Formats: sequence, C-alpha cells, structure tokens
Amino acid sequence: MKIFIRKGKPGDGKAIAASLKECCNGECKDCFNRYLCNEKSFTEKNISRIDKRLSLKDERYCVLVAIDKDNDKIAGFCSFIGNRLERTEHRAECGWFVNINYARKGIATKLLTKLLIEARKSGLRKLEAEVAVDNLASVKLAEKLGFVREGLKKDSIKLSEKRFIDSFLYGKVLS
Ligand SMILES: CC(C)(COP(=O)(O)OP(=O)(O)OC[C@H]1O[C@@H](n2cnc3c(N)ncnc32)[C@H](O)[C@@H]1OP(=O)(O)O)[C@@H](O)C(=O)NCCC(=O)NCCS
Repeated sequence: MKIFIRKGKPGDGKAIAASLKECCNGECKDCFNRYLCNEKSFTEKNISRIDKRLSLKDERYCVLVAIDKDNDKIAGFCSFIGNRLERTEHRAECGWFVNINYARKGIATKLLTKLLIEARKSGLRKLEAEVAVDNLASVKLAEKLGFVREGLKKDSIKLSEKRFIDSFLYGKVLS
C-alpha cells in the first residue's frame, strides 16, 4: 500500500464522503465519529458545500487528503479552519479522520505533521483541536504531535437525547 498526501481540491468532496460512509457499520453506539453521523451527514448538498469550500482561495482554510495509490481512494484527511476575528485570527481549529480500513498505519501522523507545516506557512500562530475524552486514538495523536491539553469542555458532545460526553481542548503554539 502506497499512500501519498496532497492538498484537497474541488471534486474531492464525493471521495471524502465515501470514505466517511465506508466506516459506518450501523452500530451508532460504537461509532468512532463522535461529532456527526457519517451515514446521514454527507448528503449531495453537503458534498457540494465541501467542494465549494475547496475551490476558495483562503489562507485560513486547508484540507490535506491521504490517497491510496493502489485504488485512488481517500484513506484519510485533516484540515484547519482559521478564525476571522482580528484578535483571534492567529488561531485555527483543526480536525482529522482516517478510514478504519487504513487505521494504525501512521497515516494520521503523516497528515497532521504536514498540516502543521501548512499552518506555519499560512502564518498561523496556533492550532487548536477538540477531542472527545474517550477518543484514545486522537488523544495519542494530538499529544504525539506536541498538542498540549488546555482544558475540558463539559457535556460538549450530544450522543443522544440524554447522553452527553466531555471533550478535551488541545492547543499547539507553532514555533
Ligand atoms: C484518530 C485517528 C485519525 C487516528 O488515525 P491513525 O492513522 O490510525 O493514527 P496513527 O496510525 O497515525 O497513530 C497515531 C497514534 O495513535 C495511536 N492509536 C491509533 N489508533 C489507536 C487506537 N484505536 N487505540 C489506541 N491508540 C491508537 C497509535 O498507536 C499512534 O501512537 P504511537 O505512534 O505512539 O504508537 C483515527 O482513529 C480516526 O479517524 N478516528 C475517528 C475520527 C476522529 O476521531 N476524528 C477526530 C475528531 S477530534
């Protein structure tokens, strides 16, 4: 398996959605995506929204995709979205995802390492990430790449009508 990483481009929306949907086994309770339902969230409308965003020339927005050279599938992606307010425009929120079939092969580590380089190039001073407290893989990934745990957000993710979980707030000041 050969993986290469490139910047996201318009037209990637469909493949990104397909990769997310592929990770749905119908067992919502065990789903590793704590933030949204991969199956329900990626409608045609949302896919075209992703593509539209990818076509904008915006230094504060960056998506990197990891492509499997053998089949051109998107094995994973990561992104940052910058803040627009004057006093906080040095910060951007980032996120990451690797398809379960490609997990634990170092792909997220490669993606996030490159994302940090892109963030520096964009002149950002800080990347931030929110990670569900039970998301051990993301906790390990963030800490491995030098993100520092800065706080805890109580009941930040609504899993169902009566179930909420907390998330850790991570930050990395870019030197
Ligand atoms: C988090 C995620 C991106 C990790 O992707 P990955 O390509 O498997 O990660 P890597 O192979 O680069 O591993 C990164 C580190 O996490 C550890 N790790 C990965 N999966 C793990 C798991 N299921 N349990 C425990 N540790 C795990 C690895 O051992 C590695 O640490 P190490 O180098 O010290 O051994 C992936 O599991 C994912 O997409 N999860 C669902 C989406 C999600 O949670 N997004 C984040 C929202 S904040």
